[in-house]
Amino acid sequence: MAKPLTPETDELPSALLRVAAHIIQNSNEERPADALLRHELKARKVTRADARDISQLVFDYYRWYGWLKHLHSLYPRIKLAKQLAKKFEERPDSFTAESLQNNSVPPWTKEVMEVSVEWARALQMAPNLWLRSRIGQDQSLREKLGIFEDFSVPGLPEAIRYDGEADLFRSQEFHAGEFELQDIASQLVSMFCAPKPGETWWDTCAGEGGKTLHLADLMQNKGLVWASDRADWRLKKLKLRASRAKCFNYRSALWDGGAKLPTKAKFDGILVDAPCSGIGTWQRNPHARWTTTQKDVTELAVVQRQLLERVANSVKPGGKLIYSVCTLSNSETGENADHFTSIHPEFEPLEVPPALAGAVQSKKPGQFWAWPQTLGGNGMFIAGWRRKSS
Ligand SMILES: C[S@@+](CC[C@H](N)C(=O)[O-])C[C@H]1O[C@@H](n2cnc3c(N)ncnc32)[C@H](O)[C@@H]1O
Repeated sequence: MAKPLTPETDELPSALLRVAAHIIQNSNEERPADALLRHELKARKVTRADARDISQLVFDYYRWYGWLKHLHSLYPRIKLAKQLAKKFEERPDSFTAESLQNNSVPPWTKEVMEVSVEWARALQMAPNLWLRSRIGQDQSLREKLGIFEDFSVPGLPEAIRYDGEADLFRSQEFHAGEFELQDIASQLVSMFCAPKPGETWWDTCAGEGGKTLHLADLMQNKGLVWASDRADWRLKKLKLRASRAKCFNYRSALWDGGAKLPTKAKFDGILVDAPCSGIGTWQRNPHARWTTTQKDVTELAVVQRQLLERVANSVKPGGKLIYSVCTLSNSETGENADHFTSIHPEFEPLEVPPALAGAVQSKKPGQFWAWPQTLGGNGMFIAGWRRKSS
């Protein structure tokens, strides 16, 4: 039998350990660890170096949580998590496929999707940070931010991976609206939509507008993007972001997914970037692995179907309907897409724009997957249909 893992030495500065332990003890579903971390680091006015170390301890703890359960007190757990993270970085092959598939995610995950060893391994790595430059300004932005690595992804020229240490939120370029912090998989969704200047689009679950702003930029500020959400506070954040990005071709409206739509207009394209269980974000947000439940998956799959049904009639003949979720469970992805296709013969599956073919995997027409281990961002599912012209 394998020896139970135990932490080795007591080399962590106790002040940092105490703050990390406080954050871990007070994190829960309502108070996610990343939000509490931001709050505590700001309130305690810690140095940048300490903030980085504390964040690392907290993220390592949740990333390696599945390997820690045999230890009953928190400090030894935090220390063991740090050691496992170091071991994984130095000798990733020392973790067996079985260990990764069984411990990196909660046991119920296997009931809702396939847990491949490639995905499980990617979940244990530190996530990449992605920026989105304005259209055609990627090279000048790289120069301004001192990004000299030529790391670019075919089909997504504005996606820039940032490996530096600077606080980009404080940069002059950020405040001038020259880039957004946006995961590459999220950028993929608007690129998939491929809106044209002058068209009218509806981003039905716009939230704080990550994709609204990208759609508007792709439309070169010509035409109109309707941005709706059930949360007013999110739309208020979109307003601030839009003004920083100098995006004026959008209109926001509250919509809770009910039968009364915010407009009777028909659209060239509708994006349903639906609320989901977020399994695709588990690399970036390891705390969510342990707060998300199988019930969330079941309930949200139903909400997603309803949202698609509500808006399908608002797509013009020849127009596009795009469904995206940053999750990977079967019921919230292919099963929902299959269901929609089966009851809507007036829609036909949409092909992926050729430039993006290398960024996604597809087993069925109109259904596309992006995985952390291949694209280097969040896991994302996209389905697309076109309303037949007659
Ligand atoms: C995946 S997030 C959207 C992210 C956003 N599109 C972006 O790119 O930044 C899903 C959004 O759906 C909203 N939402 C949840 N339930 C909804 C419903 N029934 N009707 C409309 N919006 C809903 C949430 O408030 C949340 O902002």
